[in-house]
Amino acid sequence: AISHSPAAESAERHERRWAVIVGGIIALLIAMMVFTGLHWAAMPPSRVETIDPRTLHQRGEFIEANLGTTVDAQGQVTVRLVAQQYSFTPQCIVVPADTPVTFRATASDVVHGFVVGRTNANVMLIPGFVSTFTTAFRKTGEMLMPCHEYCGTGHEGMWARVQVVD
Ligand code: CUA
Repeated sequence: AISHSPAAESAERHERRWAVIVGGIIALLIAMMVFTGLHWAAMPPSRVETIDPRTLHQRGEFIEANLGTTVDAQGQVTVRLVAQQYSFTPQCIVVPADTPVTFRATASDVVHGFVVGRTNANVMLIPGFVSTFTTAFRKTGEMLMPCHEYCGTGHEGMWARVQVVD
């Protein structure tokens, strides 16, 4: 600064103040990025359940005998199913109407997904992860449950049925 008029000095002070404020904002943003990165690295998002897709059929929750609809002692309804090219196991799922139903599902080979009729029951199934959601079916009757993620040449023929009963 060559000029030393009071106006020029005032402008310079303002400029310095703004430089500090902008510097502070940038430092804050970097700190947030670092914090978020460390936080996620140390602690993956909650409610993500992993499972070994290679041993699904041999042991654990998704062995064949354990698939389908179960009602526990408290009346909680759970549907377990596995998707594979190009079918769902089981092929037919029976659930009670007007009751919360919790789906627990996974895929054994590639990414699949499904939607039940025109309800909000809609999920992606990713090998290595257990997808869960809870919904209640209001209307009784049978609905188609197609795979809605392209999973190979047999994708179009991959679907199951859901029967909602009283
Ligand atoms: Cu399974 Cu598309």
